[in-house]
Amino acid sequence: MNNLISMRDLSKAEILQIVEVAEKIESGKLKVNIPDKVAALLFFEPSTRTLFSFDTAVKRLGGKTLIMTGTGNTSVKKGETFADTLQTISQYSDIIIMRSPTEGAARYASEVVEIPVINAGDGANQHPTQALLDLYSIKKTQGTLENLKIGVVGDLKFGRTVHSLCQALGEFNPKFYFASPSHLKMPGYILDDLDDRKIDWHEDRNMETFIDELDILYVTRIQKERFADVEDYNKVKGSYVLKKDMLDDVKPNFKVLHPLPRVDEIHTDVDDTQYAYYFPQARNGVFTRQAIISILLGEV
Ligand code: CP
Repeated sequence: MNNLISMRDLSKAEILQIVEVAEKIESGKLKVNIPDKVAALLFFEPSTRTLFSFDTAVKRLGGKTLIMTGTGNTSVKKGETFADTLQTISQYSDIIIMRSPTEGAARYASEVVEIPVINAGDGANQHPTQALLDLYSIKKTQGTLENLKIGVVGDLKFGRTVHSLCQALGEFNPKFYFASPSHLKMPGYILDDLDDRKIDWHEDRNMETFIDELDILYVTRIQKERFADVEDYNKVKGSYVLKKDMLDDVKPNFKVLHPLPRVDEIHTDVDDTQYAYYFPQARNGVFTRQAIISILLGEV
């Protein structure tokens, strides 16, 4: 592993290694210390969890961070190219962690610089570190990643987290249940990939039809910022809301995950149930990102 750009770049063995290293870091069995390492966090799109959990992860490993949120105060304003900006930042840092609204931006960065690059989300394409923390959360709550029934609801078209998650879970023989507004269905290339890998999936209009069969329900936000026309967003907003009274007959091991932020797709009355796991899931991002950074820097 030289970079982490897409889940499809990782083998099952590499995924399991990341989960195992994260477990050892969380339990204290593995201590990694990188006091001389600097991570550059380049975020060209808003973020709360990914930015702060990466910053926390580097600092818990004893390293330091450089943070750029936008280009307003940089020499990009003087006409410096993206490639020259990346080359320059790589002279001051040991690893680049980048979020961009542009699909393929992290892959491009990895081709420009000679230090490792982590994709922290590129447009509607991929969010591989989110998928890995999701796998870590699923393993922690279910005791296994194999043969699980996973519901995925919300914006499946533009949702980079669900694209990465489905590709990652595809290594573990899941059964997927998808529910979304008709304009926001899972892209054909993800479904074709699942078919090629003989992964069982089906689509439904409503999550109520399958919720009682699930081990995990992965809820996502309908992302206003991905719509070119706000009227199209207004037609589908609020079309999926998980409420406490829908959880009466779920399995005892059932958990609700969400990459967050949420808007209204999980009612706050779910938060105090035994099934809500989205805030511990966000916490798991720190251990998982510590593991990814440690592996990419050759420390484990
Ligand atoms: N899950 C996630 O990527 O959250 P942020 O956009 O807050 O980083």
